[in-house]
Amino acid sequence: MKPVSAAIAAAALVAGAAGCARPPTPKSPLIPAATTMVTAWQIPQDPTTDPALTDPKLGDPIKWGYRIFVDTPREAPRLTGGGVACVNCHLNAGQRERALPLVGITGMFPEYNNRAARLISLQDRVVDCFLRSENATGRGTEELPSTGSKEVLAVSAYLTWLGRGHAVGENPVWRNKNAIAADQLIPVATLDAGAGEAIYKERCTSCHGADGQGVQIGDKKAGPLWGDASWNDGAGASRVYTLAGIIRYSMPYLSPGSLTDEEAQQVARFITSKPRPRYPFKAQDYVGGKIPVDAVYYGRE
Ligand code: HEC
Ligand code: HEC
Repeated sequence: MKPVSAAIAAAALVAGAAGCARPPTPKSPLIPAATTMVTAWQIPQDPTTDPALTDPKLGDPIKWGYRIFVDTPREAPRLTGGGVACVNCHLNAGQRERALPLVGITGMFPEYNNRAARLISLQDRVVDCFLRSENATGRGTEELPSTGSKEVLAVSAYLTWLGRGHAVGENPVWRNKNAIAADQLIPVATLDAGAGEAIYKERCTSCHGADGQGVQIGDKKAGPLWGDASWNDGAGASRVYTLAGIIRYSMPYLSPGSLTDEEAQQVARFITSKPRPRYPFKAQDYVGGKIPVDAVYYGRE
């Protein structure tokens, strides 16, 4: 047995044993974190095939929001400055455990946001994703996404549809699980981009390419991890620990969870040592507060 499958088997045994003592947990709406090529394409809740969405006034935007989510550069070119789609980071259309899942989260907004230093709505959050993760500012700053943009409303409609049946104000148990435990964080200054590069070469290049731009594998393409077509330096994924948290639990694609906390941080340091588009409004972030230690692209200008 390979170490990874042994680990999965051991985890399954532990989970089974715990299951005897506790009442059965309700079935999760998410694809499990440990996935295979079989589940890579599964979308448990797909609005484009939901027969209940009969009213086109709401149904059409929800379906378009889903299509934007899974193919952002093509469906929302006006607001996308590179080659990254929402689904690149939020796997299985935001429906996979430990891959930044978005099911049932809409009832948590408005929420206080540290970076904005104010309450933000769901639409504000989606605008930020376009501005930063989708590098909308890379197209120039004349036409920027706003809470009223039709693409933003459509994506928000899809996410709200994913939240149906979930209680407002109740934090889903699967939310915010893409984080390295605080006591395992390594000071950014002692992380070593060279060590991260070695891990990258061994574990990531087969799909992401030596140049980081992503290799086409069937109908899936890993997104560009750095360079002009990547997310910009104001995105959450440009922070070392945030990126490490994504990688630690959702990558490598076919054996997520197989990197250690340290390896995930080293490889994230390597990726965040690379050039990427500049977010022009960084000076308006974290106003009145401290810039987080892992926001390595801040304070350079
Ligand atoms: C490069 C990776 C990446 C891409 C691409 C991306 N996101 Fe995210 N998203 C994140 C990260 C990381 C977070 C966690 C919060 C943070 O630190 O920014 C997040 C958080 C969110 C949240 C808040 C989740 C919560 O529980 O509060 C929403 C909503 C969201 N993203 C929607 C989107 C949408 C819509 C798109 C496409 C327009 C998108 N994201 C593209 C990385 C990404
Ligand atoms: C077997 C192929 C494969 C391997 C190996 C792999 N990835 Fe990925 N990765 C993908 C695919 C495919 C996506 C996009 C997911 C999707 O769209 O469903 C992705 C997405 C990502 C993302 C989200 C942002 C983006 O631009 O797509 C990051 C970050 C990432 N991978 C980092 C890594 C790191 C670091 C490693 C090595 C430790 C790694 N990956 C190994 C296939 C792979």
